[in-house]
Amino acid sequence: MSPVAAKMEEIVLQWLVDLFGLPAPCGAGFVTGTTMANFTALAAARSALLKRAGWDVEEDGLFGAPALRVIVGAEVHVSLRKALSLLGLGRSRVTTVPADDQGRMRPEALPPLDDRTIICIQSGNVNTGAFDPAEQICSRARQAGAWVHVDGAFGLWAAASPLYAKLLAGASDADSWAIDCHKWLNVPYDSGIAVVRNPEHLCDAMAISAAYLEPSALREPCFYTPEASRRARGIELWAALRSLGRSGLRELIERNCRLAKRFSEGLRQAGFQVLNEVVLNQVLVSFGDADETRRVIAAVQSDGTCWCGGTEWHGHTAMRISVSSWATTEEDVERSLAAIIRIAKGEDWKL
Ligand SMILES: Cc1ncc(COP(=O)(O)O)c(C=O)c1O
Repeated sequence: MSPVAAKMEEIVLQWLVDLFGLPAPCGAGFVTGTTMANFTALAAARSALLKRAGWDVEEDGLFGAPALRVIVGAEVHVSLRKALSLLGLGRSRVTTVPADDQGRMRPEALPPLDDRTIICIQSGNVNTGAFDPAEQICSRARQAGAWVHVDGAFGLWAAASPLYAKLLAGASDADSWAIDCHKWLNVPYDSGIAVVRNPEHLCDAMAISAAYLEPSALREPCFYTPEASRRARGIELWAALRSLGRSGLRELIERNCRLAKRFSEGLRQAGFQVLNEVVLNQVLVSFGDADETRRVIAAVQSDGTCWCGGTEWHGHTAMRISVSSWATTEEDVERSLAAIIRIAKGEDWKL
């Protein structure tokens, strides 16, 4: 990593801390995506909470360490469970808090918290786009000395728009955040950021030293990430943010959300059931029973006008529409709606 690339990471971090309203100075590791951002931030959480309990997890590992409690919501993203498994915290050795019909963690169902608890909340559910109530959760966690980690893969970008930022109320009170850049920021794949409130906690978990790695007074990117050698992810982030600017990012987020709403209205008007409250850029639609919905998804995919995947949501099979490309226009959405409706109504033969 050249000093230029390291400097660009610093600038990107400053811009994002400002954009997301995070408490400066934060530490940040520029990693491959949100799976690794969750992993990296949770490594910092594990390190900090065990250090407070008098245990050095980097040196002594988890054998015989004081127990940590990890809390997740019922609709936690699978990749967060994977990150927990990689950290020796276990995919299943977690307390799962029930969620409401949109997938939001129910704060009143949180168990008692203490200073050996990590609570993993979500800003932007991959199916519904819903946000866990960060304000209530962070305020309870703060009183108890618990660590709150936010998986904000795509939801944190809502901060770029005054129309959607309110969904994130309280999220800046957390201790760490995971952000995806290859999704809503649309940079090439292999880009996510782990942000940690206290940079020392991140360095404790990630820093390395070796005689041949001469320390400098400048930022050492490998003190913040699991990898030593890697590509200079900060450069394209710098370029994307520099060219979009605050207003361009806002326009991108608002356009995608407006187009998601248009999808949901168009599909409802055509008589199909939209299963979620469309609060962001995600739409879940059912075309009848599971077999019929699967038939429509397969036919939409082979038609090729647009691409939508399938999912299961609270007992229903659904098609999942995720509007997140900088290139998607209103005309694209109208064409896509027409194609989906034609296929779902079985009118293909008319073509
Ligand atoms: C909420 C959430 N967390 C984590 C991930 C995993 O991100 P990545 O594929 O960048 O590792 C995703 C991806 O869809 C996601 O939506």
